[in-house]
Parts: sequence; C-alpha cells; structure tokens
Amino acid sequence: MPDQRRLSYFVASSLDGFIAGPDGGDPSSWWPITEDYLDFIRSEFPETLPGPARQALGISDPGHRFDTVVEGRRSFELGLAAGIPDAYPHLRHLVFSRTLGSAADSDVEVVSGDPVERIRQLKSEPGKGIWLVGGGSLAASLRPEIDELIIKLGPVTLGSGIPLWGHDAGFDTQTWTRTEATAYPGGMTLLRYARSGDSV
Ligand SMILES: NC(=O)c1ccc[n+]([C@@H]2O[C@H](COP(=O)([O-])OP(=O)(O)OC[C@H]3O[C@@H](n4cnc5c(N)ncnc54)[C@H](OP(=O)(O)O)[C@@H]3O)[C@@H](O)[C@H]2O)c1
Repeated sequence: MPDQRRLSYFVASSLDGFIAGPDGGDPSSWWPITEDYLDFIRSEFPETLPGPARQALGISDPGHRFDTVVEGRRSFELGLAAGIPDAYPHLRHLVFSRTLGSAADSDVEVVSGDPVERIRQLKSEPGKGIWLVGGGSLAASLRPEIDELIIKLGPVTLGSGIPLWGHDAGFDTQTWTRTEATAYPGGMTLLRYARSGDSV
C-alpha cells in the first residue's frame, strides 16, 4: 500500500520566529536571497518557486516532493496584488477563505469549509506531498494535520511581525522529532521535524 500523503509546513522564518513583518508583506523584502539559497531551492524544492520565478530562472523541473499547495487567503492575496492570480500553476492550488467566494483564476480552488476536513480528504487521495505555504493563521488552523515542519531559518531577526502560528494561536505544546539540520554557507539553516505524535 502506498504511503499516505503528508502535509508539510515549508516556510521561511526569522531567527525570532516570524514568517512576515508586521505589515504582512512578502517575506522577500527581508529574506536574504543568496546564491547558495537559490541553488538549494533549485535542486531540492523547485516546485515551491512561483511560476514567474520558475520562468525567469528557466526552471521546468516539476520537483518530486509536492504536487499540491495550500494557503490562507491573506497569503494568496499577495499574489493577486502583484497581478498573479495563480502563483503556482504547476501545482494543484487550494486557498482557504470564508470571504473570497471564488478565485479570479478558475484553476485555484477556494475552500470555505473546515481546512482540517479538506486536508484529510486530500490525504486520502493518491498523490505526492501537500505543501502548506502559510500564512500563520491557516497554519494554526491546520496544526493537528501537519506531519512535517520544514523551516528555512534565515540569519535575520525582525523584532515583530507575524509568528509561525499567526497571532491568535492558543497554547498547545506539541513535540517534534528533528530529522535534519543543515547549515548553508549563506547563513540559512534548514530545520526539518516530523510530528512525534505526543502532546506534552
Ligand atoms: N515566510 C514564509 O515562507 C511565508 C509563507 C506564506 C506566507 N507568509 C506570510 O504570511 C502572511 C499572511 O499570514 P496570515 O496569518 O496573516 O494570513 P493567512 O494564514 O495567509 O490567511 C489568513 C486567512 O486564511 C483563511 N483561514 C484561516 N484559517 C481558516 C479556517 N480555519 N477556515 C477558513 N479559512 C481560514 C481566512 O480567510 P478569510 O478571512 O477570507 O476567511 C484568514 O483570514 C503574509 O505576510 C505572508 O507574506 C510567509
């Protein structure tokens, strides 16, 4: 029997645990993009680059980890504001929102129902991994379903901003098993954790 699909929260974080500044803007404004970081994304996670970036960098590699991407409405709207209705045309793309109605790009599925239920449905279908982009608020809603954290820890502190689990996450201790910690010359540390399944 094939392995069940897993939900991975693959996200860029500052050293002080923020995934975005207080203005909720795009992390590219503070994330240090170094040559070795680009090489890492190109070789390990090419499917996580937005379509226009893939085009600009000449990347057609479909990647091998994810075939589906899920994000919260506020993260999705950053793409819309930049004139990109579907930032990930090479992936199945779902956006969670109770207010959006429908997306401008019909290839993007807007889900107004319970994210946990929808993720469980996706996991029961065959396919590659499911990438949770963020943001923090959607990640908090999906905490019980996240099988893996892949944190790109940048050599930068922000002081304030949107935390890994958003602003309103409740206190709920979860333990994780570290499966990788790789330091890159440009300053990023890639941290990878599997859910241990224990609540303490
Ligand atoms: N560092 C990174 O790698 C990274 C990655 C992605 C995003 N980000 C950053 O994250 C920030 C946005 O994060 P955020 O926490 O403010 O917002 P978000 O999680 O992107 O979006 C929040 C919205 O998602 C919908 N949502 C969340 N939980 C839901 C639920 N249980 N049921 C239905 N809909 C639900 C709601 O939309 P409605 O209000 O429409 O119902 C909610 O307002 C942006 O600044 C972005 O740059 C960073």
